[in-house]
Amino acid sequence: MFSDHVYSKAATENINSFSPAMDAIGKAVDDQYDEVANPNGIMNLGIAVNKLQEEIVLKKLNSINTITKMDLEYGNPSGTDSLRKTIANSINKHFKPVSPINKDDIVVTNGVTSALDKITSVLCDPGEVILISSPYYSAFETDMNSSAKAIVHNVPVPVSEIQSPVQVRYYQKKLDELNGKGITTKAIVVCNPHNPTGKCYSRAAVEAILEFANRNKLFVIMDEIYALSVFRNTESASDLKNDKIKHAGDLNDAVGTYSDNKYEFESVLSFENLSELIDPSLVVVLHGLSKDFCLNGFRVGWVVSPFNSHIIIGLRAVSLFSNVAKHIDSLATKLLGDTEFIDSFNKIVKDNLLESYERTTTYLNNKNIKYVPSQAGHFLWVNIQPLMIRWKNNNLRKNQFRITSPSELTFDDDMEMWLSVIKDARIYYTAGVNFKSDEPGWIRLIFSQPWDFLKKGLDRLFDYIEKESNSISQIDKA
Ligand SMILES: Cc1ncc(COP(=O)(O)O)c(C=O)c1O
Repeated sequence: MFSDHVYSKAATENINSFSPAMDAIGKAVDDQYDEVANPNGIMNLGIAVNKLQEEIVLKKLNSINTITKMDLEYGNPSGTDSLRKTIANSINKHFKPVSPINKDDIVVTNGVTSALDKITSVLCDPGEVILISSPYYSAFETDMNSSAKAIVHNVPVPVSEIQSPVQVRYYQKKLDELNGKGITTKAIVVCNPHNPTGKCYSRAAVEAILEFANRNKLFVIMDEIYALSVFRNTESASDLKNDKIKHAGDLNDAVGTYSDNKYEFESVLSFENLSELIDPSLVVVLHGLSKDFCLNGFRVGWVVSPFNSHIIIGLRAVSLFSNVAKHIDSLATKLLGDTEFIDSFNKIVKDNLLESYERTTTYLNNKNIKYVPSQAGHFLWVNIQPLMIRWKNNNLRKNQFRITSPSELTFDDDMEMWLSVIKDARIYYTAGVNFKSDEPGWIRLIFSQPWDFLKKGLDRLFDYIEKESNSISQIDKA
């Protein structure tokens, strides 16, 4: 066995920070439940994938899938001209940019994951800091650190303020702290629509963050990967059906107190006043095929930088390392180029998400489980503190005492319950501890799955948590 010092500092850091979360995600992907082929596999209620249109996507792709001799060649590592043109057209149609985006404003990468890594390597030196409000999509930490070695600092923002401009005070506090320690902060990531709450930011909130970034000369990386998956705006079908929701803010009144404020998604590219808020060269936008086009496995994402050509050049210089397979580049070009199909597909995606959201929230309401009402994406941010208290009391270790209040829960409980649910109940969800939740007892559930599967998974999850057995003793033995 080699001792640590044979590896690079970067690799040593990665080896030492390997966490059970990475292992768990790997298992959830490799050992997936399938009713026939793998009935003992893990049911995924944690990885953000939209399976509601699987059949439509497969039919479409199989109908346009041909491999030509050009696909056997190297392509442009930043994305072929045809793909970047098609992406530019798609952005011009759906993101309503103030000035049309053109192909040279875009660099294609193998997924937004890769785009995050590459943009970080362009903007930050190792050790420099990126601020992201928490709770956040946990992979931001590794995406921006594993290779580029920037350090993500979470800025806890209460869920009630995630759509509000007043959240800037939390960024300011964190920045002051870092400045006081002589640490350089380089950028902010804003995920709009927001993962994990599924909320759209208000225009005022984004504007306030942009102004803050400008005052402090910070880049703003807008992760808009869920831009076209907004299924509840102010006048969506569910609002009209549900009188209560029409009177702003209280979908969850019956079981909780989380606000249901809904805003239109507005891409930062569409801000006609952008240059009054910030030097636009500080702003880039990320989007891709995984979420809005239900193609996680294709590994296609892109960076849009219409205001800063240096960023494009910097990204191109490293694009050989995030090269999309030529065949997938061609297929993506054909798919996005079929605007009639994409328009109708996009509508189906939203309708299906809304239907699944309504079924899932009805299920949670019936069980008296609180959640933050969402309007976009594939997920719900759910408060399971009362259930976690029961779980903890049913699984007390030696020297532990019964608890009665959420304030007695710990992040170790979050982690233990999560690992035991994966191992014994064969359900993968995302634990709040991994998303830097500000209190234990929160989970993120993915609802963009066929209802039969989802209902089975939810039943299995909540039955397992509530059952009176000692699963901890099984963990101890493992
Ligand atoms: C907010 C956010 N950004 C980026 C990604 C990564 O996307 P991709 O599949 O394009 O790498 C995800 C995936 O869940 C996400 O939720």
